[in-house]
Amino acid sequence: MHKPDLCVAKNREKVKINYVNLDLDIKPVFKGKKYFLRTYGCQMNVHDSEEIRYYLEQLGYSHSDVLEDADIVVLNTCAIRENAKDKVFGYLGRCKHLKKTKKDLIICLCGCLTEQPSEIEAIMNKHKYIDIVIGTHNLSDLPKLIVDANGKQNIEVYSNSDKVTENIKYSRDSKISAWINIQLGCDKFCTYCIVPYTRGRERSRKMENILKEVQELKNAGYKEITLLGQNVNAYGKDLDLGYDFATLLEETAKIGIPRIRFVTSHPWNFTDKMIDVIAKYPNIMPYVHLPIQSGSDAILKKMNRRYTVEEYKQLFDTIKEKVPGVSITTDIIVGFPNETKDDFERTLDIVNYCKFDGAFTFIFSPRVGTAAALMEDKITLEEKEERLHILNELVNKYSLENNKKYEGKVVEVLVTGPSDKGEDKVCGYTDTMKLVNIIGSKDLIGKIVKVKITEAKSFSLDGGVVSD
Ligand code: SAH
Ligand code: SF4
Ligand code: F3S
Repeated sequence: MHKPDLCVAKNREKVKINYVNLDLDIKPVFKGKKYFLRTYGCQMNVHDSEEIRYYLEQLGYSHSDVLEDADIVVLNTCAIRENAKDKVFGYLGRCKHLKKTKKDLIICLCGCLTEQPSEIEAIMNKHKYIDIVIGTHNLSDLPKLIVDANGKQNIEVYSNSDKVTENIKYSRDSKISAWINIQLGCDKFCTYCIVPYTRGRERSRKMENILKEVQELKNAGYKEITLLGQNVNAYGKDLDLGYDFATLLEETAKIGIPRIRFVTSHPWNFTDKMIDVIAKYPNIMPYVHLPIQSGSDAILKKMNRRYTVEEYKQLFDTIKEKVPGVSITTDIIVGFPNETKDDFERTLDIVNYCKFDGAFTFIFSPRVGTAAALMEDKITLEEKEERLHILNELVNKYSLENNKKYEGKVVEVLVTGPSDKGEDKVCGYTDTMKLVNIIGSKDLIGKIVKVKITEAKSFSLDGGVVSD
């Protein structure tokens, strides 16, 4: 039994990356059986679930969306905030009940929660019927653990996050748009954040392997790829091979896939070279997610974000100036320990300055093991909720204002699937990452079409297809 040790993640020495080339032989020993899979958290977890699904399908399982019909339940957890954690408990309760009648049901927990020793210990003590707990660094051991499951708890969580696994196979959610991990882990240690502990040190994949994957996805007809990393633009810094994120972005663009995106960029690692590459290649989408977190220098310092508000503004202005029509979204935390009214006002100031296209806003949630969890905090939850409300009103005002500029315009949309706004509609995204609901048939799915925008809302646009 391996258990993670938070001290390992805290060791800030550079790790020597251990590249592992995967070559698994998985037999379909569970043919006829069904799996139920739920995913919480960020794109990284969504992409990990594509790997998990590949293993389940290779083992012979077919998909079920009804938990009670499943022979294996896999919950891919997130630990970023308390409410993300809580979501798995509803399913665990149902699993416990089901296991009373279905003795050979396999219950598996994976994802970031498994990498938090105190949390996982508490869960395992309370929910003794869980069969498998697997960490974020050894997902490729999952098929073996499932085959070996025999009713006793099997916990495999590795803390040695020096590994980069190559040649991972995925059962991807989409045939149009694909995720590509380019970098794992995070070295930033923002004081509120659990990710460096659950995902380990920053490790970059080698550029040649990433470009090979991009080429394969292009050959398979993919229209869009998104390069993924917690600090996507810190890519390459750990390798010392003479290339960085801007180099990778440029080489990716040259392969000629129609749409390239990347998340998430840290302002501290955003270079002028990157901005020039984004501006130069039409297939790199004019969209940047650039989390600011707070508009107060004092809070940014306590958060260990490594930039000042002034530096963020300068970067923001340069991107806006050099990349025509770019849209920029952000993340903001309210109620960081002892955030004063004045600190919060500064956050409203930066929103008024940047007029973001959109923002994900959160109330600070203390995470066990992080520095901010130990900071004194006199601000009440009521006050924090009030601040969140005020912030959301402002953020939504600017989202709508930005969206209104699209009314009457013709934009290119990659149609990704049916719309939930009606049978006669499909939906997709503009190059600037605006969701568009389009009147049109399912034949449009997978195509990049020209759409005239008829109406703008805060979170989406409506439109109709126009011919060239
Ligand atoms: N790597 C990305 C974001 C990772 S998590 C970055 O650095 O920007 C996504 C967002 O969750 C963060 O940007 C932050 O706004 C929010 N978040 C992270 N930890 C949090 C916490 N403890 N409480 C509230 N929000 C948090
Ligand atoms: Fe968390 Fe900060 Fe790393 Fe983002 S950069 S994952 S917020 S520690
Ligand atoms: Fe959650 Fe882990 Fe992502 S904590 S946000 S799933 S990296």
